[in-house]
Amino acid sequence: MITESPHIPQERAEAVLDPATYSDWDGALDQFDWLRDHMPVGRMVASDDSFEPFWLVTRYEDVMRISKDNAGFLNNPRPVVFASKKMTEFSLAATGSNMLVDSLVVFDAPVHMKYRKLTQEWFMPKNLKQLEAEITALAEKTVDRLIANGPEVDFVQQVAAPYPLHVVMQILGVPEEDEERMLFLTQQMFGGQDEDLSGSGMADMTEEQIIQIVSGSVTAFETYFAQVTAEKRANPTNDVASVIANAKVDGAPLGDREMAGYYIIVATAGHDTTSASTAGAMQALAQDPEQWARVREDRSLLPGIVEEAIRWTTPVQHFMRTAAEDCEIGGVPIAKGDWLMINYVAANHDPAIFDNPRSFDAARSPNRHLAFGAGAHQCLGLHLARLEMRILFNALLDRIESLELAGEPQRAKSIFVGGLKTLPLKITAS
Ligand code: HEM
Repeated sequence: MITESPHIPQERAEAVLDPATYSDWDGALDQFDWLRDHMPVGRMVASDDSFEPFWLVTRYEDVMRISKDNAGFLNNPRPVVFASKKMTEFSLAATGSNMLVDSLVVFDAPVHMKYRKLTQEWFMPKNLKQLEAEITALAEKTVDRLIANGPEVDFVQQVAAPYPLHVVMQILGVPEEDEERMLFLTQQMFGGQDEDLSGSGMADMTEEQIIQIVSGSVTAFETYFAQVTAEKRANPTNDVASVIANAKVDGAPLGDREMAGYYIIVATAGHDTTSASTAGAMQALAQDPEQWARVREDRSLLPGIVEEAIRWTTPVQHFMRTAAEDCEIGGVPIAKGDWLMINYVAANHDPAIFDNPRSFDAARSPNRHLAFGAGAHQCLGLHLARLEMRILFNALLDRIESLELAGEPQRAKSIFVGGLKTLPLKITAS
């Protein structure tokens, strides 16, 4: 039993919380390898008191245990995504909650399940089957446009960003002409740390200014989805927006804030994440032309490629939990109320579980990665994410004979949801 708190050295602590670290993926993985080896449950303390201290958990086994123990490790009352003290205070003042949006990810039992079960059936493979034809049409249209813009293309701009957005907007009942606005709002909420993605030059802004922009985008989302709710109540269809708009909890319709939170979590969680895995899969295939040729011939290899791409990219880089009781993790005592970061990037690159974790191995088996989390909050959209990636890659494999990198791909600067922001490719259509 280690009785003294293992403090993470200041330089490493700063690196883990610096969005720029994640734009150099190997550099980020080096940091996590060191932490996993030297202090797998390490204390993060701000030298300037800018954030509440927390435990950074990097071993697969520990991240899995915390994720599955939803009574022992809560998504409340501390923020469920890393936030500075200022950000948390602002959120509390603006909304009365420590996160700007109340949604599934911030609820604990018993409330969480009441809300989750409203849409859980809708997201199951059996129900998603009815979307296959629509998603295939979207994928084919996207690939047509990619080829028309070839041979040199930015895959992120042409495919990886717009395609998952179309899918998610379709299930939320947002018409195509409003998608651009939704994309902008999503990127402001999640990509705010990267100047190219936020589209608003946030790199030079103060924390207060960034907070204002993020909260403005939350309000804009809420206003927009109030209209969607009215429409879906008047004319329900088979999309998830209709399920949310007409749902009842304890016999009453959802309040405005809960309703907006539900739309926002689906819109935001289902978009940048799938984009990042899609771009990562294409990057891995562009770096290994033989693999592209092999899977063109044998599509049974595709599910393995999709799953490995999700592990290899791990788009959701962390979530946070609050300890419900005094306990111990990996021999380190944790006090009731302590804040913990479960780091999926570190867990998914743990060599105790994944041989040669930095290599893309489409045949990896088993591949029990934690990119979708685990336990009661495990990703609600995981079947949809896999389905839309499989459909897209089938369409790409049908139409593209070969591909190669046409420049250095660039990653976003973000500590929460991360991935490629550019992927220059040269494609040869078949
Ligand atoms: C939750 C990852 C795609 C909707 C989560 C969590 C992770 C995650 C790590 C938290 C799990 C936990 O706390 O244990 C991903 C990745 C995706 C993806 C890597 C793509 C590759 C999607 C899609 C949707 C979606 C397509 C829906 C359209 C949600 C929702 C939650 C969630 C609603 C909250 C679930 C809850 O708290 O009960 N996702 N996600 N995700 N995801 Fe995803």
